Amino acid sequence: AIAERVKVVEVGPRDGLQNEKQFVPTEVKIELINRLSAAGFQNVEAASFVSPKWVPQMADGADVMAAIERRPGTIYSVLTPNLKGFEGALAAGADEVVIFGAASEAFSQRNINCSIAESIERFAPVAQAAKDAGLRLRASISCSLGCPYEGEIAPAAVADVVKRMLALGCHEIDIADTIGVGTPRKVTAVMNAVSAVADPAMLSAHFHDTYGMALANILAALEAGIAIVHSSAAGLGGCPYAKGATGNVATEDVLYMLHGMDIDTGIDLDQVISTGQWISDYLQRANASRAGKAIITK
Ligand code: HMG
Ligand code: MG
Repeated sequence: AIAERVKVVEVGPRDGLQNEKQFVPTEVKIELINRLSAAGFQNVEAASFVSPKWVPQMADGADVMAAIERRPGTIYSVLTPNLKGFEGALAAGADEVVIFGAASEAFSQRNINCSIAESIERFAPVAQAAKDAGLRLRASISCSLGCPYEGEIAPAAVADVVKRMLALGCHEIDIADTIGVGTPRKVTAVMNAVSAVADPAMLSAHFHDTYGMALANILAALEAGIAIVHSSAAGLGGCPYAKGATGNVATEDVLYMLHGMDIDTGIDLDQVISTGQWISDYLQRANASRAGKAIITK
């Protein structure tokens, strides 16, 4: 049965903005997070503590984290590829740190400059430090539905990485369609494979919308028992190591679908719509949310 309540994780401030060529001023990032918090998200992915040479847009994570208004009960997550990133995240008061690996060797090399096995070795001290500090630990697995370099990825390869992430003590694991190539039956196959090795309650659907499949894929994930969905206001984003990939599925579209199905999220759709239009206008980008545009012009 499909969950009656779904946790929608807003990743726009991180996944949505990280690929913007022009540096987005720190104040704009802060306002984006504050507006999204006010809309009622339980979890906002706020920043990355990664090498500024690799992702210059995320270089101001500490300043962003220091200035946002923390909505009581909301989890503010940040990406931490290594101990250096973890130390920054801890000092910044992150509630959750995210280690990020891949189900594809080629993507792992291009995104974090090491093999899958090496990445797990690097994550182990981060996981231990998170445990010692009492922070939540999440893992994201890129290319779970296909890779820009390797093509098809077997569900068993994804399940294998999930097992290794579980062994590190992760509280949540993201099944990520980095380049948006998945289709519903593939999603069903992957979610069934990973649900055989991890509790479905700890798995999330992190889907990009490159081929317009994300909502259909989310529905397949919900039918497979997944109850955590990632999305980005106005569908912001793209991936620096996946040419041509578009942003995450738009949050407004996900909320329109879930609320229309009487699934509770606790999030105010209208506030997300106005925030999505505001950030699109600021970035001089077309709003990629169909529901957002439809409701604004109604
Ligand atoms: P490296 O070059 O192999 O590592 O990078 P290194 O340890 O040799 O460090 C190189 C330089 O970076 C050094 O500086 C370090 O100090 C610095 P230098 O001595 O040359 O002046 N450095 C750092 N600085 C700040 N914070 C840090 C940090 N670590 C090292 N944490 C590394 C390896 C992993 C660091 C690098 O490859 C990196 O930062 N990659 C980031 C990749 C990234 O952020 N990708 C986007 C996020 S993942 C994603 O979007 C997918 C996701 O959405 C799911 C999906 O859709 O698939 C999550
Ligand atoms: Mg992503």
